[in-house]
Amino acid sequence: MAMTQDEMKRKAAEAAMEYVVADSIVGVGTGSTVNHFIDCLADIKNKIEGAVSSSEASTKLLKAAGIEVFDTNHVSHIPVYIDGADESDHYLNLIKGGGGALTREKIIAGMSDKFVCIADESKLVDILGKFPLPVEVIPMARSYIARELVKLGGEPVWRENYLTDNGCDILDVHNLEIMQPIKLENTINAMPGVVTVGIFANRGADVLILGTPEGAKVVYPK
Ligand code: 5RP
Repeated sequence: MAMTQDEMKRKAAEAAMEYVVADSIVGVGTGSTVNHFIDCLADIKNKIEGAVSSSEASTKLLKAAGIEVFDTNHVSHIPVYIDGADESDHYLNLIKGGGGALTREKIIAGMSDKFVCIADESKLVDILGKFPLPVEVIPMARSYIARELVKLGGEPVWRENYLTDNGCDILDVHNLEIMQPIKLENTINAMPGVVTVGIFANRGADVLILGTPEGAKVVYPK
């Protein structure tokens, strides 16, 4: 029987366990792939100091698994951050934020020595942008930023009836073909009212673990 997408996510999550550093604080992302990782982490909870979490949802799961969750302000060293992605190119530039946790994800990615991205094989693409690019914005800036994003050739759609853990709005920008991820990340980040853009290129992943029907495959930046 063919392997499901969820089974491939599980394969990637299991393979990421090799990267967990004993007695350290593990950076934990958000999403269905990470949920598998949290499940695996629970089995070795006595071998780690605890975790920092990129969302209320992951915090809840970590605590339910008996893993201590630290405030990022009380942590100075995170050897490894494990998180999923909506898309990765071959240079391991990412689009993230499908689950709305992009800002906290980018903070923890920035704090961490190594970013290990876990995903099923469908997430690897040649050019970023088919997946609508999430942009977290301060609510009063939403329409202004949407107009600015249209000027860049995108079609922003407000994620209605949704607020991030930070109390902000998300615009999902369709129709972008992201040829220069770092440049676009910097351009959108510089707009007043943008909290975070879901391009992770200035700090992309260091390793990508793809779940495939043949098992986990490790990809390094091209
Ligand atoms: C959440 C994210 C997730 O990493 C991304 O959406 C991938 O999710 P999943 O593992 O469910 O496919 O960026 O903000």
